Amino acid sequence: LRKRKARRVTRRNKNKKNPDEGISKKDDVPFNGKFFQSIISVLRFNSSTTPKPFLILTPLEESHVQTAVICSRNHGIQMKVRSGGHDFEGLSYVSDVPFIIVDLFNLHEINLDLENKLAWVQSGATTGELYYKIAEKSNILGFPASVCTTVGVGGLISGGGYGAMFRKYGTSGDNVIDARIVDVHGRILNRKSMGEGLFWAIRGGGGGSYGIVLSWKIILVTVPPTVTVFRVDRTLAEGATSLVRKWQDIAHRLPQELAIFVSIGVANATPKDEKTVRATFTSLFLGDAKKLKIVMKETFPELGLKNSDFIEMRWIQSVLFLDNLPTNSSIDILRGRSTVKSYFKGKSDYVRQPISHTGLELMWERLLNDELTGMNLTPYGGKMSEIAESETPFPHRSGILFKILYFAAWNEKQDASSEEYISRLRKMYEFMTPYVSQSPREAYVNYRDLDLGQTSKNGTASYSQAKIWGTKYFKGNFDRLVYVKTKVDPDNFFRNEQSIPSVAF
Ligand code: FDA
Repeated sequence: LRKRKARRVTRRNKNKKNPDEGISKKDDVPFNGKFFQSIISVLRFNSSTTPKPFLILTPLEESHVQTAVICSRNHGIQMKVRSGGHDFEGLSYVSDVPFIIVDLFNLHEINLDLENKLAWVQSGATTGELYYKIAEKSNILGFPASVCTTVGVGGLISGGGYGAMFRKYGTSGDNVIDARIVDVHGRILNRKSMGEGLFWAIRGGGGGSYGIVLSWKIILVTVPPTVTVFRVDRTLAEGATSLVRKWQDIAHRLPQELAIFVSIGVANATPKDEKTVRATFTSLFLGDAKKLKIVMKETFPELGLKNSDFIEMRWIQSVLFLDNLPTNSSIDILRGRSTVKSYFKGKSDYVRQPISHTGLELMWERLLNDELTGMNLTPYGGKMSEIAESETPFPHRSGILFKILYFAAWNEKQDASSEEYISRLRKMYEFMTPYVSQSPREAYVNYRDLDLGQTSKNGTASYSQAKIWGTKYFKGNFDRLVYVKTKVDPDNFFRNEQSIPSVAF
């Protein structure tokens, strides 16, 4: 079996044209960095000064991961773990100290148990692969994971993981019932042998702190054979401000089966030489169009949806729709792992009180001055409000109206430097202070943001240093995360620029 799998992987890798896989760097051997470059998805980290890893290890089986942990621990070398490589700050492949990368992309098996509505999924699978596998076998099962289908299951579940069904079913981490992890001693543990403390910590405490999660046992959730989606744009002239104002009041109170996301960006107005703010309302409803029309008429008639805006489809097609992939294409597209590469920086906030009409107008003013910045608003409520903050480390539950993702995306051809774009994004974040959650100002750990603080170069931080970003990501759960970390990895082997510290109590 092992030989067959190795042959399969070699064949796939040949097709992928990744000839540099597993290359090592020694001082006397020129580092052929093509493969390394291919895994860097945030291009601001793809520069001649970006430190190169000594080795990129691409395990074919679980025991390779165990060996990697034991060897790098014996050699005292920093290890970075990569599943889908979507980390906003490149924490799975960038390091200031000598390091190796363990890239799990070959460990992407998915085993479904449809009868019991369960599955084991390896961390190296993408959510697209997972959705594909489920849809291949069932029209009425799904999994609540990311909107973007190239995100890795490993990093996603480690930080919670939200998607279009999370108002109905909670985060991805809420739907995990077992896991297999390689611990600091190189042992493979499952839920029973790792204990409830560690099992709690790995379902939202952020990747890279506790061990390498090999696979997750997940609960498959029920989806109807027909779901309904819509996507409509509204500019300022079409009442975008009042619509976003109203959306804030209702989005978190809508039926759990319905999620309406809003993307805010700058677009061309009419006449063409003027700019306007455009709000795009994108929705998934777990039900048919007839029901959704009634809900929208009762709760949000101002959006002015036409009959033709409501599109019925299979759940798996809605996955393509929400990820901006053509819905008439084959679902095979979900098996591709190619990630969009861009110059990018993101930051996040949570909102507990609606932002006033005037506040929104001031936000638009800033966006119009800086058209490369955008915002995505994700509605909370529903099941998210029913789960206690301490149930998993992911604490953003009851009382949250919506989450904001701020992002700046640019390319090499733009006139300003990367620092300039990042600085504009930081100013936007600063500007938003009065409108968002306070004490702590909450942030989503899966939208890693090193502006919130980071460990020193050797990967250590005191409890009080780490508490600064730790309470933003985890609120009151931070202390329990530190406690578990100290117990399972007292020497802080698994670490990154924002990992949970181990401390002496
Ligand atoms: P990556 O491999 O970079 O890992 C992220 C972190 O987890 C790193 O610190 C890494 O070391 C650690 N890690 C990875 N695998 C591990 C393992 N097996 N065991 C232990 N630690 C591990 N989020 C969301 O909730 N919903 C969404 O819809 C989206 N959409 C989205 C779109 C795009 C374009 C991007 C760039 C990001 C998102 N995200 C998101 C955020 C995403 O959830 C977050 O970046 C995840 O950490 C990515 O997981 P990957 O495995 O892809 O990243």
